[in-house]
Amino acid sequence: MASVFAGKNIVLGVSGSIAAFKVAGWVSTLAKEEANVSVIMTESARQFVTPLTFEALSGNKTYSNMFGSSDQDAMVHINLGREADLMIVAPATANTIAKLANGLADDLLTTTSLVTRAEVFVCPAMNGKMYAHPATVENIKKLKEIGYNVLDPAHGMMACKEEGDGRLTDWENVAEYFAKALTLQELTGKKVLVTAGPTREPLDPARFLSNRSSGKMGYAMARSAFRRGADVTLVSGPTTLACPSGVRRIEVQSARDMYDAVLTYSDKTDIIVKTSAVADYRPARKAEHKVKKDQIESQLQLEQNPDILYELGKRKRKGQLLIGFAAESQELRTAGIRKLEKKRLDLIAVNDISGINSGFESENNQVLLLFAGGSESLPHTSKQHTADLIWDKIVSLDQQ
Ligand code: CTP
Repeated sequence: MASVFAGKNIVLGVSGSIAAFKVAGWVSTLAKEEANVSVIMTESARQFVTPLTFEALSGNKTYSNMFGSSDQDAMVHINLGREADLMIVAPATANTIAKLANGLADDLLTTTSLVTRAEVFVCPAMNGKMYAHPATVENIKKLKEIGYNVLDPAHGMMACKEEGDGRLTDWENVAEYFAKALTLQELTGKKVLVTAGPTREPLDPARFLSNRSSGKMGYAMARSAFRRGADVTLVSGPTTLACPSGVRRIEVQSARDMYDAVLTYSDKTDIIVKTSAVADYRPARKAEHKVKKDQIESQLQLEQNPDILYELGKRKRKGQLLIGFAAESQELRTAGIRKLEKKRLDLIAVNDISGINSGFESENNQVLLLFAGGSESLPHTSKQHTADLIWDKIVSLDQQ
């Protein structure tokens, strides 16, 4: 479903580094998400990758020349810059960074960056010594002062066989910043706490009780809040998911760990979203050593875990919003309303886990939103899109 990049005009300026081949993957991803990508290559970038590579991936002409043969070509820097929703300079070499920092405009990439009023992201890539050189350090400082967004390079082995800072960062590290630049900043100044994933309740050092939650819905909620400008803390049970960039993650194991982490932050938080599937019970006793199969008791003694959301409902302060989730397999509305009232929630998203392509582990979801005096049924769609639609509702409740 509709990606944040869909229909956006994105100008990608590529300068001369071996990392130019890496951004071919970025163009491919953006094109798949239906962005309209126009690539500008410097003369030296063309030594590393051919314009045809980017043309094939973007479906658009690749630009290099400031002085085209037609009138239209002569104005290309104005048109690209004016129509851009976002400009990315990647890889940005020391030379291109120096030119941008000093307002030089001797090629199409630098000229376009002076024309555009869209946000410009600069992703450096160069030898570690060049990156650490005082001249480059000074230029990057200047870039930031001027208003460019500079995304740090990664550390690692470079093509020159030296290790250091200067590797072009990966798409996964930067995509969220690009997405944020294209999103309305409705949550600026808001502190958001999201919980995600399952909890694990240990039986012994090798075994635990848990549930099928993958964490995908909670991570999508965190990502969506970051894109809207919130300061996001994600308290996550064990998952295989990477932390969304820009989000602060606190990893926990058990329900009691999650309780402690959430209560540490809850007072200072404006909006709390409890997407996690918290285990209601834990084994009454955790064995110090792995229990042998002939020693396992046939009946497991359980103790109740704290209900974190119920506790948050009791402590809720004026102006704070509390959002719950509920996975149900029957009587969704009745169960949802009961939880909404009991836990003093502002909104609950109830999802039907009896469907095949919805809920646990799935990429998709279909939820029913319940709130004071109303309900809204969301379409069956991706978890990311579901998260965006839930945030639309949360923002409207916040503005009431
Ligand atoms: N929740 C929580 N702490 C718990 C149990 C649940 O904070 N110990 C939160 C979940 O994160 C979710 C909401 O409460 O946002 C509803 O969780 P759910 O498991 O559906 O509800 P329960 O209150 O456990 O009720 P039941 O198991 O009877 O359906």
